[in-house]
Amino acid sequence: MRQSSLVVVANRLPLDDSAARDGACEWRRSPGGLSGALHAILQQTPATWVGWDGEVGLAPRLPDLGAVRLRPVALTAAEQAGYYEGFANSTLWPLYHDAVQQPVFQREWWETYRSVNQRFAEAAAEVAGKHAAVWVQDYHLQLVPQMLRELRPDLLIGFFMHVPFPPPELFMQLPRRVELIRGMLGADLVGFQREQAAHNLAQLAQKLLGAEASDDAIIVDGRTVRTGAFPVSIDVAEMRALATRPDVVKQVEQLRHDLGEAKRVLVSVDRLDYTKGIEHRLTAYRELLRDGHVKVRDTVLVQVAVPSRERVESYRELRDRIEGEVGRINGEYGRVGEPAIHYLNQPFTRAQLAALYQTADVMVVTPLRDGMNLVAKEFVAAREDGAGALVLSEFAGAAAELSQAFLVNPHDVDDLKQTLLRALEASPEDRAARMEAMRRHLAEHDILAWARAYLTELDHTGRLARRFI
Ligand code: UDP
Ligand code: G6P
Repeated sequence: MRQSSLVVVANRLPLDDSAARDGACEWRRSPGGLSGALHAILQQTPATWVGWDGEVGLAPRLPDLGAVRLRPVALTAAEQAGYYEGFANSTLWPLYHDAVQQPVFQREWWETYRSVNQRFAEAAAEVAGKHAAVWVQDYHLQLVPQMLRELRPDLLIGFFMHVPFPPPELFMQLPRRVELIRGMLGADLVGFQREQAAHNLAQLAQKLLGAEASDDAIIVDGRTVRTGAFPVSIDVAEMRALATRPDVVKQVEQLRHDLGEAKRVLVSVDRLDYTKGIEHRLTAYRELLRDGHVKVRDTVLVQVAVPSRERVESYRELRDRIEGEVGRINGEYGRVGEPAIHYLNQPFTRAQLAALYQTADVMVVTPLRDGMNLVAKEFVAAREDGAGALVLSEFAGAAAELSQAFLVNPHDVDDLKQTLLRALEASPEDRAARMEAMRRHLAEHDILAWARAYLTELDHTGRLARRFI
C-alpha cells in the first residue's frame, strides 16, 4: 500500500451502509457529525482514512473514495460488543456526557478496547509515510496516540475529541483512568471543542500523572503536549448550495403544504440518543399542549430520531420510551389527519435535511450535553431566507458560538416551555437580527477554518514544516 503524508484514524470509515446493498460505495453522510466534518476536508487533501468498515463489513471489496484511500479495520462480533458497544458506548460515552445515563463498567470490555486500539495504531503505522501527520479522532481511540508513538516515533500525532471531556470528579470514576490519560497524551496536540475540556485534561494530568500542566500545554515524560480548543463546524457552502437547489426548494414547498400552510412548525433532528434531550423536549411539548399554549390546529412538531447504536440496551429502552410518549401525546391531543407530533425513526439525506431545516419556524436543539451539535449549525447555514428561530441548549458546544440563539436549560422543563413560546412568538425583526448574527459567525468559521486551525497548530508542534491543506 502506498504511504500517505496525512492519515486520519477514526472509528468508522465514512461509508454509507447502502454500499452493502447495491455494491456502490458512497461517502457516509452520517448520522453523526464526525464523518461529515472530515469528509469536507479530505476532498481537498489526498490522504488515507483508517477505520472500521461498519456493521455491514465491506472490507474485502472496498474501493478508494476519490482522492482518499481507505484502510479498513475489520472487527469481529466480539470486538464490536466489547470495544464499540461496550467500553466506547456504554462506559465512555455516558460518562463523558455528564453521566446523564449511568455508565456501565465491565472489566472484560477493557481488554477488547485496548486490543482494538492497538490494531488501529498498527494500521495507521503501516500506511503513514515517513514523518507523516496522523490525526486520531474521538473517544473510541483514546489509546491510539501513545500506541502509535511507540510504533512510529517519527510521526506527528494529533488527537481530537469530538465529544465533551468531563471534569475530574466524573473522569476519576473510570477504572482505567491512568491508561486513558496516558493514551491521549501520546499525541503532540490534543484538541477539544471547548476550552473547559483542555482545563479538565490539565487537572487530570496533574492529579493522575503528577505532570506539569497548564491549559495549553502538558509536560509528560519530558515531552510537551499542546492542548487547545478548536470548535468543529460544518461545510457552510455545501449546506447553502443544497438549500437553494431546485429539488430541495420543491421539497420545502411540499413539506409546508403537507404540514399545513398556516401552521407554525417546530423541527428537531437527532440521533436517537439519551444525550439529545428528546424526552425532556416531549414533556415540555405535552405540557404546552395540555396548558393550551400550543394547539394542534395551529402548531406541529416534527421529530426526526435517527436509529443509533441499537445493539446497546439503553438505546433500545430509550426508543421504547420515546415512542410510547409520542403515541400518548398523539393519542391525547391529535385529531384525524392532524397529529401533534410527526415522529420519524429513519435516516434522512442531507438534501432532505436542508428542506426540513427551511420548513422550520423554530428549530429545537436541546441536548442535555453535546460536544458541539452540527445540526444547529446546519440549520443556520440552510436559512438563506434569514428567517426561522433557533432554540439551543446551553449544554451544546455550539451555544458558545451561536449565542444569539434562544438559549435554554434543557433540564428545566419550565424553561424549555417558556423558551419555546418566546421563540414561537418572537417578532420577525428579532428573529432576523439573531439569524443574521449567527450566519455571519458561521460564514467565517466553517469546517475548513476548523481543519486549518487544528492542522496548522499541529504543524507548529512538529520539527518539519509541511502543508496539509
Ligand atoms: N444527519 C444525517 N441524517 C440524519 C440525521 C443527521 O445526515 O437523518 C447528520 C446531520 O446532518 C449532522 C450529523 O448527522 O451533520 C449529526 O451531527 P451532530 O453533531 O448534530 O450530532 P451527533 O449525531 O454527531 O451526536
Ligand atoms: C458522535 C461521535 C462520533 C460518532 C457519531 C455517530 O458524533 O462523536 O464519533 O461517529 O456520534 O455514532 P456512531 O456510533 O453511529 O458512529
